[in-house]
Amino acid sequence: MDKFIIKGGRKLSGEVEISGAKNAILPIMVATLLAEGRSVLHNVPYLNDIKMMAHLLRVIGARVEFHDNILEIDTSHAGYCEAPYELVSKMRASIYVMGPLLGRFGKARVSFPGGCAIGTRPVDLHLEAMEALGAKIEIEHGYINANCKNMKGNKINFSKVSVGATANALMAAVLAQGETNIYNAALEPEIDSLIDFLNLMGARIEGKGTSQLKITGVSRLKPAEMEMIPDRIEAGTYLIAAAITKSELTVSNCIPEHIQALINRMEDAGCLFEIMGRSIKIFPPRIITPVDIITQPYPDFPTDLQAQFLALMTLADGQCIVEDTIFPDRFMHVAELNRLDADISLDKNIATINGVETLSGAEVMATDLRASATLVLAGLAARGQTTISRIYHIDRGYEHIEEKLKKLGADIKRVRG
Ligand code: EPZ
Repeated sequence: MDKFIIKGGRKLSGEVEISGAKNAILPIMVATLLAEGRSVLHNVPYLNDIKMMAHLLRVIGARVEFHDNILEIDTSHAGYCEAPYELVSKMRASIYVMGPLLGRFGKARVSFPGGCAIGTRPVDLHLEAMEALGAKIEIEHGYINANCKNMKGNKINFSKVSVGATANALMAAVLAQGETNIYNAALEPEIDSLIDFLNLMGARIEGKGTSQLKITGVSRLKPAEMEMIPDRIEAGTYLIAAAITKSELTVSNCIPEHIQALINRMEDAGCLFEIMGRSIKIFPPRIITPVDIITQPYPDFPTDLQAQFLALMTLADGQCIVEDTIFPDRFMHVAELNRLDADISLDKNIATINGVETLSGAEVMATDLRASATLVLAGLAARGQTTISRIYHIDRGYEHIEEKLKKLGADIKRVRG
């Protein structure tokens, strides 16, 4: 297993370009199954999750080609309606195939996702949405079997905001007969992007950017071609890299309004920003002011930046709290950060951080995607050498992270395991 070795304490400088958003691309890849023919996605990063989803689409019968950050998906021969355990257990986003398979083929067999490093992560809302549209769901031998001859539009009122369930409901509803109304839909930019793609395919979805979506079912969709949006979480991670190393940095090819909640909290911490169209220049503070955060659905502070922000707060001048209301167990990074001499205590889903003057390098272990990025950030700021093992997690969601950081002046190297 590969490791990162980071010699910390160096300032970063220059400009980093943000890649396409994995969490926007995964549902769009699956949405291509709703039509017959060749769809083309631009600005797709080389990430393990993308490759894994491509593999799942091939299992379903699609032809997938990936070159020059362009993904071509030909669904002409798709029709095997199963997401097997081997894939779902490695990537929960495989559950996304349920909506499109039900919508186009009237059946789906998807391995029931188990727990993961950030919590139990149920799929009840996905199943409720499919049932509301007429699917009959049975769970046996660890698989969800969903069947429906003709999906029919209905009201779907989510009891909780869920990105994944909103995406799945949309993909199941676009080919359903009649009108579907989704209430309490997720507002994340990744959902807007999926709506744009589905509408390009010929779907009729109204209400983009609001929590109430109206879908008028159509009988057929066509393949589409679209540019993928930049990754707001990657952009946020590099902004925090600048702040934690006290560096001036330009983060380019991003959509600043997608990370407004982070920018606001970083301003409270003393950072200054210059926003010019699709790029953000950050000026770090001399002293980091402690700032409390609570993660909430978009447009509030994202859970996917909780760990990275927490790393920044370990060097703040005083005490603050970080609370995660989305994934209450998403705090595996706390023990690892404490190995780097941070002072963090954890009570259920609330971390209390007492800022320290410096972090010191140590051997640590990555536990999930964002926790890995967090350890990289802490390693960049720490005195001495930090060795991070199990970095395969980071290759799921950060394209060329060590090359990008090296270009900015970081001393980071990958040791092949
Ligand atoms: C998406 O996961 C992202 N994954 C996650 O990204 C992200 O952390 C999360 O949204 C929240 O923003 C992808 O886009 C592939 P949810 P998802 O359904 O869709 C509860 C990353 O690091 N819930 O919005 O699975 C759930 O437990 C990651 O890139 C139910 O109770 O998240 C959570 O508390 C990991 N029942 C809340 O809703 C359900 O059926 C929001 O989860 C579904 C969700």
